[in-house]
Amino acid sequence: MNEGKSVLVTGSLRGIGRAISLRLASEGYTVVLNYRSGCEERVEELRNEIESAGGKADVICFDISEREQCQKALEEYLERNPVFWGVVLNAGICRDNILAAMDGDDWDSVLHTNLDGFYNVLRPIILPLCKKRKGRIVALSSVSGVIGNRGQVNYSASKAGIIGAVKALACEVASRHITVNAIAPGIIETDMIEGLPLEEMLKVIPMKRLGRAEEVAALTSFLLSEEAGYITRQVISINGGLD
Ligand SMILES: NC(=O)c1ccc[n+]([C@@H]2O[C@H](COP(=O)([O-])OP(=O)(O)OC[C@H]3O[C@@H](n4cnc5c(N)ncnc54)[C@H](OP(=O)(O)O)[C@@H]3O)[C@@H](O)[C@H]2O)c1
Repeated sequence: MNEGKSVLVTGSLRGIGRAISLRLASEGYTVVLNYRSGCEERVEELRNEIESAGGKADVICFDISEREQCQKALEEYLERNPVFWGVVLNAGICRDNILAAMDGDDWDSVLHTNLDGFYNVLRPIILPLCKKRKGRIVALSSVSGVIGNRGQVNYSASKAGIIGAVKALACEVASRHITVNAIAPGIIETDMIEGLPLEEMLKVIPMKRLGRAEEVAALTSFLLSEEAGYITRQVISINGGLD
């Protein structure tokens, strides 16, 4: 199943990206693990873990917020390899504060990473993908981008921007049989939510628990599948009822 199909996963080393990478590898995809410079040891550990379990992995180094780095790494990769079947735009950051106290660096870094990353990663890939005339793009948005969240004006703006970008791109590439969807997770148990007032948050989640990265990975896997070929331009929430 899925042999011969590769999927690029940005931010593959931790949290949701790691769970997605392990899940896709277990389903026979070749997972192309994106990591940032300086994380060579960690990416090799993950590659070994995947290969020891009988899966296939490749690695690609770039920072999604650095346009030239993305372009160079992806163009070089695509000269040597067939274009990906799927792209999972997972890497992201948050720098939370109320707007009145938010400094410019926190605004800029979140927008440069989460939103510019969409352009930086997809721009070198989209033409080869269109030429192949099939594929899947899944971008991680957030409940925060759908409904807004106090203390996350920068993050909400970036994740709402992802939704707009997904919806527009879906129209551009639908005729090439490429689907483009966003996943909007609620609160998922990863490093990203460290320090948040979880007791307070659990009160407003109807399911009264946090989400698991593996649950987001299962949804991502479905959206990447052949069976999901008629789902495009959608925002799929996975949030225990938090909306
Ligand atoms: N956790 C949640 O509750 C939640 C809810 C809604 C949406 N999301 C979204 O889901 C995605 C994954 O979140 P997570 O909870 O798994 O976060 P996480 O545990 O903080 O992991 C983020 C991953 O992204 C990578 N990354 C960050 N900036 C990068 C950059 N500039 N270039 C390349 N890689 C970069 C990190 O690499 P390093 O390991 O090198 O730092 C890390 O592997 C994010 O887009 C996030 O906004 C998360």
